Amino acid sequence: MSPAEVGALADLALDVAREAAALVRDRSEGVTVAATKSSDVDPVTEVDRACEELVRRRLAHARPDDAVLGEEGDDLAGTSGVRWIVDPIDGTVNFLYGLPQHAVSIAAEVTDDAGTATVVAGVVLEVPTGTEYVARPDADGVVRATRDGRPLLVRARAPLAQRLIGTGFSYDAALRARQGAALAALLPRVRDVRRLGSCALDLCLVARGSLDGYLEEGTRLWDHAAAGLVARAAGARFEVTTGVGGRELVVCGPEDGFEDLWVAVHESGFAATVAAPALGPSGTPSAGE
Ligand code: IPD
Ligand code: CA
Ligand code: CA
Repeated sequence: MSPAEVGALADLALDVAREAAALVRDRSEGVTVAATKSSDVDPVTEVDRACEELVRRRLAHARPDDAVLGEEGDDLAGTSGVRWIVDPIDGTVNFLYGLPQHAVSIAAEVTDDAGTATVVAGVVLEVPTGTEYVARPDADGVVRATRDGRPLLVRARAPLAQRLIGTGFSYDAALRARQGAALAALLPRVRDVRRLGSCALDLCLVARGSLDGYLEEGTRLWDHAAAGLVARAAGARFEVTTGVGGRELVVCGPEDGFEDLWVAVHESGFAATVAAPALGPSGTPSAGE
């Protein structure tokens, strides 16, 4: 797919995310839990559902042949090779409690003729502030990340002991206990940790240099598809491995110095193995890869 075609997907994602964020903002008073999902503390509200319905409706109207993976709806198959990955509200618990960190996340993924799927564009729109994080290719095909139109760049390398690390905890109590134990091992080795409540925004904070790293086990593709691309395009390395609880473990931080974080995450007990696997090369993503 050409950079211009991917750019059109990014434009659509941004238009739809703006409309979706307006819906969430308009309905932010008196929010109640509609149901719980993976555990009693994993809520969904009517606003999550209404937001995802709006996103699906708009995408289907503009591009009826695309597939959709959304957190609150059934997987929709497509025929175009494009799949949209949607988290209607990332940070639902914050939204429920009136806390600011929550965002609409929409990513576009393209599967090539060889069957390789690549996220090519992504939008994370922070609802209360309207801040727009976007990853999209320029005319040269290189994916670039912006915050409200301004280029994003990760923070310069710091010693591990001076890094501020974002993290999150599972909705599953047993896994949370293991995450807590691993965190107790990591905490003395870093500057401090933050648990802000939105995986997508945490990754965007890495992208803009407001966190030195982020790690979490138990995330899902819709949490990080868009924001992972934003972070990578801003100079971060984004790795997915297996966590101590057997679920996906995301580790992200500036490319320069990433290995120190990677090793510390393993040594602290977040991952399935204590020995950190060697890191292969990592490249800046470009459209059409
Ligand atoms: C959650 C948030 C949270 C993270 C959880 C996610 P949701 O997404 O990203 O920060 O810790 O792992 O599930 O449920 O608010 O869409
Ligand atoms: Ca989420
Ligand atoms: Ca969600």
